This record gives sequence, structure tokens and C-alpha cells, in this order.
Amino acid sequence: MQEFYLKSASSATTKFPKKLLLWNYWDHEHIVGTHFAHYKKVNIIYEDSKVCFSERWAKLPYLPFYLKTTDFAVLTNDSQMDVHHYAFLNLLYCKQTFKFEDLENDGCKVTRYDYLQVPRFFSFLQKYFDKIMKKWFIKVWEEDMPMRERRLKVWKLGFVDFKGIDFINKHNLKRKKLPTRKYNLTLPIPKITHEKNNRREKVFLRKVSKSKNLGYGLPDL
Ligand SMILES: [Fe+2]
Repeated sequence: MQEFYLKSASSATTKFPKKLLLWNYWDHEHIVGTHFAHYKKVNIIYEDSKVCFSERWAKLPYLPFYLKTTDFAVLTNDSQMDVHHYAFLNLLYCKQTFKFEDLENDGCKVTRYDYLQVPRFFSFLQKYFDKIMKKWFIKVWEEDMPMRERRLKVWKLGFVDFKGIDFINKHNLKRKKLPTRKYNLTLPIPKITHEKNNRREKVFLRKVSKSKNLGYGLPDL
């Protein structure tokens, strides 16, 4: 039988550099924090600098239960990632392609293409699928904004992962103007908030299900 897909495309532009956007999409740790309303658990089975193989427990729009998906993400090149999602014993398959396009002044345009494989007689759902996916894109995009803002802000202040900012850590240091440094990214992103166990897999559980601002406040620096 010929494969048939429901399709959708969404895009948005941002003032953040491409690598910062990629950092956001490859930071699987924040899924159960920033997106706590949609996800309660993430299990990273394997990841390296190009791929991430994981399981996610997600609450999708209009579904009254958590759906467990198996997800395979590939950084196809430095401007594209492809994610393959499987659910319901692999009966459900959805592919997403994210394209990252540099804009002037270090901005970036992100376009997400969605393809949901369905039997052809479900083609009448096309307009609903498109509507849901566009809505989902905007919702998640807005949720991610504070952490992108914060990341760029602290990056400009000289922040180093797991070290912090010099003049904040050491009170005897004066804040000094740093030369502009290009946003840099090395995958996989180091993680510390997974459940402590002896397995290679990294399990992240939702700890907060009420305040979306917890841990994301940023005083004026
Ligand atoms: Fe996110």
C-alpha cells in the first residue's frame, strides 16, 4: 500500500543565533521542566554529537492520556535536524524536519515540517492536523523563549557551563566588558539532573507541575 502522510509546516524567526537554537532543541533535559505541561518523563537511551535515541511520555493536544513515543533525532547537517517518532507499537509514525536558516544580525529562522503517516482514508483530517501542529509549534516556541533569552544574556556575560560567571562567583572580581564571542555548541550537551542509577540510560522526571517560572528567573545583571 502506498504511504500517505498528513502534512504541516510552521516557521518563526528569532533574534537568537542558529547554534543557540540548536542548543535549545538538543537540550533534552529541559523537556520535563520548561515543557512540564506536555511531558512527564524523558529517557535518553543513547546520544552522541549527531544523534539522540530516546523515549518520551507526552500529553498531546486532544489526547486524554500520556503517549509514549520512541524518538530518533539526527543532526543531518549544521542547518537541519530530522526527528523520527514512533508510538503504539510502531503503528504510529511521524517525521519532523527542522531547518535552521541564518538571518542577518545573528538571527535565525526555524521551519518545522511535519509528516504523519496515516491510512489514506484519514486524508480528511489534513486541515485539523495542520491546525494542531501550527498551534503546537507556537505554544512550544513561546515556552522556550525565556530560556533562550536567559542563555544569550548569560553567554554575553561570559557564562561557562557548570562554572558560571566569574564576577558573580567571586565577589572580589569587578564586572568587565568582554569581547563579543560567537555562540558555540558542542553536542551532546552535558547533563546533571537525570535520576541517579547504574544504567547508561539517562532518565529525566518532571519535578514541578505547577510553576513554569521556577528556576528560570533571571535578576538584572
Ligand atoms: Fe523546548
